[in-house]
Amino acid sequence: MKRLETDELWTAVDCYIADHLVGDDAALTAALEASEAAGLPPINVAPNQGKLLMLLAQMIGARRILEIGTLAGYSAIWLARGLISGGHLITLEVDARSAEVARTNLARAGLGGSVEVRVGRALDTLPGLTAAAPFDLIFIDADKPSTPAYSEWAIKLSRPGSLIVVDNVVREGAILDADSDDPHVQGIRRFYELAGTDPRVSGTALQTTGAKGHDGIAILRVTSTA
Ligand code: SAH
Ligand code: DHB
Ligand code: MG
Repeated sequence: MKRLETDELWTAVDCYIADHLVGDDAALTAALEASEAAGLPPINVAPNQGKLLMLLAQMIGARRILEIGTLAGYSAIWLARGLISGGHLITLEVDARSAEVARTNLARAGLGGSVEVRVGRALDTLPGLTAAAPFDLIFIDADKPSTPAYSEWAIKLSRPGSLIVVDNVVREGAILDADSDDPHVQGIRRFYELAGTDPRVSGTALQTTGAKGHDGIAILRVTSTA
């Protein structure tokens, strides 16, 4: 077999994985098409990552899930499919137009009744979630400079045993640059410092390569909320 260039190879392997383990899905395909048609950026999680989110939710029997960063609702569809029957997902999005696309996508996927899209800056809408807490699973995937603040909120809105998943924690290795003046990089670096020293969580991170390049996800387990 011809040796593919790295990016091409990663994408081809992602396709192979998706073909065998994820499969075709009309609702997800329609969601991505609607996202593109609305001019939203293609920065949704990859299909194999989306399925990982669903499986994690199923593994812990998630009844309440919180997502920060909805975009067109692609990851929200996966997360909501992982809910136990009668469960509920709240997803936070700053952009009203994205939220509208997401609502349509979720309704088309048959998930309109179990998902609520709340519009506003997450730092403004998170304080209103105390009554809906504790969440069993929280997926953080919004503006990266705020990731440390979102992690703090995620722990506050958790119970012992909750999972916190954070996207984009590698960014092609840019996170290694301690002197970076990129606020995205500094946000993620601060997240690692907090996650590595906060006695309330125990976590790890995995590098990912694939259709979305070289990046990574962190997974934290909340051990105590006190
Ligand atoms: N989770 C989605 C992708 C999210 S992209 C998926 O995988 O399908 C990041 C999203 O975070 C964008 O839609 C962006 O508008 C939103 N966002 C950015 N800043 C935000 C903020 N301060 N509060 C809430 N959402 C924000
Ligand atoms: C990008 C990717 C993401 O998964 C995200 O949440 C934000 C931005 C990107 O590739 O630019
Ligand atoms: Mg992301």
